[in-house]
Amino acid sequence: MAEKNIKEPVYLGLIGFPAFHSLSPRMHKKALKLLNISGEYLAFEIPPERFEKAVEGAKNLGFRGLNITLPFKERAYKMSDEVGSDEVKFIGSANTLLFENGKIKCFNTDVFGFEKALEKKGYQIEGKKIAVIGAGGASRAVVFSSLKNKAKKITIFNRTKSKAEKIAEDMQTLSSKTEIEIKELKEIDIDEFDIVVNATSLGWKDENLLDIFQKVKINKNKKEKKLFFDTIYRKTPFLKEGEKLGYDTEDGKWMLVLQGAKSFEIWLGIYPPDEEMLKEIENM
Ligand code: ATR
Repeated sequence: MAEKNIKEPVYLGLIGFPAFHSLSPRMHKKALKLLNISGEYLAFEIPPERFEKAVEGAKNLGFRGLNITLPFKERAYKMSDEVGSDEVKFIGSANTLLFENGKIKCFNTDVFGFEKALEKKGYQIEGKKIAVIGAGGASRAVVFSSLKNKAKKITIFNRTKSKAEKIAEDMQTLSSKTEIEIKELKEIDIDEFDIVVNATSLGWKDENLLDIFQKVKINKNKKEKKLFFDTIYRKTPFLKEGEKLGYDTEDGKWMLVLQGAKSFEIWLGIYPPDEEMLKEIENM
C-alpha cells in the first residue's frame, strides 16, 4: 500500500450528519500540506436517506477514501465489500473506508486512536482494570482495544444493560484472560479501577454523567495514579469531576487526531505527522 511518490491529486472526505462542525478537514489538510501531497479533504453533511448513494458517488468520483462519522458507522460497515482488518468485525461499525480496485474496504481506526492516546499519556492497558461507561460504537472500540491489549478486567456500565451484555457476548471470545463484567452505574466504585473511560455521547452539553459522581464510593485515603479518559474532545463534566478528585485526565483530542492519522495511513500508505495535526486543531 505504501506509496513514495503520490503525483495525482488525492481526494478524501468525511460523511456524517451533522458534519460541518468537524475538525477532521483541518487536520487532514495540514497533513497533506506537510507531506507535499496535492489533494483535498472535504466534509459532507448527508441526510440519512442518501448515505449509501453518497459513498458510491465518492467512490465513482475517484475519491481515495472516506471517514465516516455519526450516525453512519454501522451502515458503512454493512455496505462494504471487504473487511480491512479484524477489529471491524467485532465492533460492527467502520469509521474509515478505502476505495481500492472498485471495491469498498472498511476499517475502524478508533481502536488505534484509543490505545495510542493512552500510550501518549503514559498509560498502558496491560494488566489494568478498566471501567467503560457506555455501550455504543465508541465503547465497542474501547472494549476491543482493552481486550487486545490484555487488560486484567473490563467493567461496562450502561443505562441499557442489554447493550453492555451484547458487547461482552460478542467480544469475550477475543480473550479468555480478561474478565468482562457488567454493572449498573450506581454500583460504580472508582477505587476499583485504574482507567475510567467515558464512552457515552454525554458531554457536549453540560449534562452531568448520570450524576454518578454523587453516588460513587470514593476512598479518600487511597489516591493511586488513575486516569479519567473521555472519548469526547472537550473538557466534559466527567473530566472536571476527575480533576476535582485529583486524578489524571485526558480528553478525546488525541484520540481524534490519532484515529485520523491512522485513516490517512490506510489511504496513502504514509503515517502523517500527528503532533502537527494536533497543533492544528488544538485551539479550536
Ligand atoms: P457512539 O457511537 O458515539 O458510542 P451511540 O452508539 O449512540 O454513540 O451510544 C451512545 C451511548 O451513550 C450509549 O451507551 C447510550 O446509552 P444507552 O445504550 O442506554 O442508550 C449512552 N447515552 C446517551 N445518552 C444518555 C443519557 N442521557 N443517559 C445515559 N446514557 C446515555
